Amino acid sequence: MYLSHLECPKCDATYESEQRVHLCRCGSPLLVRYDLKKVKRTFLKKALVTRKENLWRYWELLPVNKEENIVSLGEGMTPLIHLKKSGPKLGIDHLYLKDEGLIPTGTFKARGAAVGVSRAKELGIKVLAMPTNGNAGGSWAAYCAKAGIKAIIVMPQDAPMINRKEVAITGAELYLVNGLISDAGKIVGRAIAEYGWYDASTLKEPYRIEGKKTMGLEIAEQFGWEVPDVIIYPTGGGVGIIGIYKGLRELQEIGWIGEKMPRLVSVQSAGCAPVVRAWKEKKSESAFWENSNTIAFGLNVPKALGDFLILQAIYQTDGCAVAVEDDEILRAQQMLAREEGIFCCPEGAATLSAAIQLIKSKWIKPNEKVVLLNTGTGLKYPETVHTEPNLLQPEDRLPRI
Ligand SMILES: Cc1ncc(COP(=O)(O)O)c(C=O)c1O
Ligand SMILES: [Zn+2]
Repeated sequence: MYLSHLECPKCDATYESEQRVHLCRCGSPLLVRYDLKKVKRTFLKKALVTRKENLWRYWELLPVNKEENIVSLGEGMTPLIHLKKSGPKLGIDHLYLKDEGLIPTGTFKARGAAVGVSRAKELGIKVLAMPTNGNAGGSWAAYCAKAGIKAIIVMPQDAPMINRKEVAITGAELYLVNGLISDAGKIVGRAIAEYGWYDASTLKEPYRIEGKKTMGLEIAEQFGWEVPDVIIYPTGGGVGIIGIYKGLRELQEIGWIGEKMPRLVSVQSAGCAPVVRAWKEKKSESAFWENSNTIAFGLNVPKALGDFLILQAIYQTDGCAVAVEDDEILRAQQMLAREEGIFCCPEGAATLSAAIQLIKSKWIKPNEKVVLLNTGTGLKYPETVHTEPNLLQPEDRLPRI
């Protein structure tokens, strides 16, 4: 067992990890800490050679004590694809995309759900509740079904239709709210206070980050433990970027990677960019973004609970934050599909739009190694593509090309 305790990144308070804890008494999210000295002594890179190609291969750095509590649908070790056409066209040879579209439930949310639900099972949880912009709800509902945990999911009524269906088919309780994820969060908060359900809201349980940090561990492993120069991440609640940063710092502590950290870039939609605004103003926290609106639904988070952690990850790696317009996102989505054969979700496509801006402004140099995170499959967003094919009659002939 390597799990040590929970720690507050704001006031340094610590909590025992074998009990159910959500936020610190100061209101901050908590981070999971391990006995990294012990991990360093006993977890050797060569152990990975014989382990399965899923995120549990890093179990010494994950918060589940007993193997029998692992709830897995085969998540992790997604491909890291060299964009051999799009990169050189933009002026860089080493542009890569990590494709989370190939993971159970179709988005990277499966990582947080796999680890979060496994840990909830280990803690004996029977009912959990969460607000979601859609994809996390779909993932948590699936893993809860497998774990035998009842899930109550509340999402904005504008969330993609597919998310309703994936929640409904797993037998979770689904509610829609006439509002944003922040409104869904308030409704869930009231129910939790009244009924004592387990609060699985973003960053209100500490284990989701642990699942998402495995994206960082995998990127390092896939590059032979040499981290890239830049990682570009689409940021809503920020769990992904916070997790990648945490995972890479842990790899440094156990001596698996050197001093170099990738510069972490947070991409948001221009219609909801609280982190970008805070970064531009050199603030350590963001302010609520009024009237947010974007096609990249997962990025529609007007104020993230972990905003200070997102900003820390950016500042401490000399990264930056970039806002992109919805039409740029759609153009990038089409470019990736046409040039590379990858049908990205709009959130993932936003990372290419950001790379285009950063290459133009020379923040990214031509010889640098850059990783885009495509956080999900475009198949979950059929409404982002409009097509009107010609209708043929059975006797019609196809024109010559
Ligand atoms: C496809 C997709 N990408 C990115 C995000 C943003 O994730 P994070 O909370 O890690 O910032 C979401 C969140 O809903 C999402 O569904
Ligand atoms: Zn605290």
